[in-house]
Amino acid sequence: MTPTLIYHVTASLDGYIARPDGRLDWFDTPRQPDEEYSFQYFYAGIDALLMGRGTYEALLKRGGPWPYPGKPCVVLTRLELPRAGDEVQLTHCTPAQAVGALREAGFQRIWLVGGSLLAGSCYTAGLIDEVVINLVPHLLGAGIPLLATGMERSLTLSEQRPFTSGMVQLHYQVKKQASQLTQIPTPRSTAA
Ligand SMILES: NC(=O)c1ccc[n+]([C@@H]2O[C@H](COP(=O)([O-])OP(=O)(O)OC[C@H]3O[C@@H](n4cnc5c(N)ncnc54)[C@H](OP(=O)(O)O)[C@@H]3O)[C@@H](O)[C@H]2O)c1
Repeated sequence: MTPTLIYHVTASLDGYIARPDGRLDWFDTPRQPDEEYSFQYFYAGIDALLMGRGTYEALLKRGGPWPYPGKPCVVLTRLELPRAGDEVQLTHCTPAQAVGALREAGFQRIWLVGGSLLAGSCYTAGLIDEVVINLVPHLLGAGIPLLATGMERSLTLSEQRPFTSGMVQLHYQVKKQASQLTQIPTPRSTAA
């Protein structure tokens, strides 16, 4: 059975997952009890994590213990980087190959942690099944977008949950029909 790939992410109201320099200070405070409960429920339901090198390096830079214990985490990168824990596997392959390998290993629910570049690649490759956005009531004005690669697609809202902090969690199922896909063309450069 093909595993379910879930892009679970925190975003500003205007669709950014980090400031332009990668900072997360606009939401990076200890979770409120209702948010913590929701996160732990989600975390208990996933089998493995898939992460881009940018996100991994941001976590390494923060220091402290590895924040995702007890679950295998595949980091896609061409670089030789230190492993943050026994759970971490650094590998160079396509997202489809990584998801295929996780399937072979028997994992069923995979958390696509991000960031934007990897999620964009997974999205355009048709690999994302669910999107869970924790929408923070904050407008950043600029930053790293939810998905680096654009493509039009309709989603189905399956659940919504408000939190005491004002954050709202929106849970979407991604429709897979090929007929609904419209590739956004790359802007053409014009001669001066
Ligand atoms: N708000 C949130 O919930 C949230 C969640 C996650 C991340 N973030 C933030 O997002 C930022 C990082 O996002 P990002 O978009 O810059 O980087 P990213 O998506 O985390 O990592 C991109 C890197 O992954 C590697 N990669 C391997 N295969 C890839 C593929 N097929 N497609 C794309 N990348 C591939 C490449 O590294 P190599 O060059 O090494 O191959 C690429 O440069 C950080 O600031 C992080 O804190 C926020």
